[in-house]
Amino acid sequence: MTQRFAGKRFIITGSGRGLGYAFAERLGRDGASVVIAEIDGALGAEAQAKLKAQGIDARFIQTDISSEDSVAAMAAAAAEGCDGIDGLVANAGWANNVGGKTFDEITVEVWDRMMAINVRGTWLTIRAVAPLMRDGGSVVTLSSDTIYWGPPRLLHYVTSKSAIVGMTRSLARELGPRMIRVNCLLPGLTMGEATKDIPQARWNDYAERTILKRTQQTDDLDGVVAFLLGDDSKFMTGQTLAVDGGFSLH
Ligand SMILES: NC(=O)c1ccc[n+]([C@@H]2O[C@H](COP(=O)([O-])OP(=O)(O)OC[C@H]3O[C@@H](n4cnc5c(N)ncnc54)[C@H](O)[C@@H]3O)[C@@H](O)[C@H]2O)c1
Repeated sequence: MTQRFAGKRFIITGSGRGLGYAFAERLGRDGASVVIAEIDGALGAEAQAKLKAQGIDARFIQTDISSEDSVAAMAAAAAEGCDGIDGLVANAGWANNVGGKTFDEITVEVWDRMMAINVRGTWLTIRAVAPLMRDGGSVVTLSSDTIYWGPPRLLHYVTSKSAIVGMTRSLARELGPRMIRVNCLLPGLTMGEATKDIPQARWNDYAERTILKRTQQTDDLDGVVAFLLGDDSKFMTGQTLAVDGGFSLH
């Protein structure tokens, strides 16, 4: 691994496990100091311990991205001891066991919770962190390739992830003058804790429908996040990047 992110500080929300943890690990191995902004205390502490054991400068700050006060406190704590935050991966989201109900079975309570975490939470996180970012900083938002193919029985989730794309585009224009870039990653169905209960037949079907004919892993995504945070993408903003083995083409 290179140390190309030495001296950089990145915040990764929802990095106690899953994609977020994989991103934190990759960025840490590339030399960055990483902040684990995670709601689950046990997951956050465990992630911090696992990263530190690899020699990564990692700090867990318990955070609920749907709470204005919580993200403000996290951002302030994350910026302690440095000149500014270099990058944010707004990864946290409610993605676990969300499918199954038709559009008319989803309750208003569940709908509102989805929007509060995935949409409001992403906005609140960026709103709190952006003022603490250095010029040249980069924000990566997390959508999903489901917004392109519109699976049924997932309406609240797909709607929330569609909102992230619009948010990315408008924020790119608002933050551009400050030399902060905002780009959106759209993963396909990825093996991990949130998706472990999906039946094998569905994994097989999904893999068959990708161009590259296999199941997606977190290490198919972490290099793309590193690319979006680093100077190799320095003239790229407001963009959406689907990484799903060619399941969707845009
Ligand atoms: N896994 C996939 O197949 C897939 C595909 C497309 C997009 N995504 C997106 O990637 C992101 C990560 O997904 P994942 O599969 O790793 O999910 P996950 O459930 O494994 O991880 C999500 C993490 O976010 C944390 N979290 C949840 N609510 C939070 C809150 N309010 N504040 C702070 N942290 C919170 C959870 O505790 C967990 O550690 C999500 O935004 C998801 O929508 C995932």
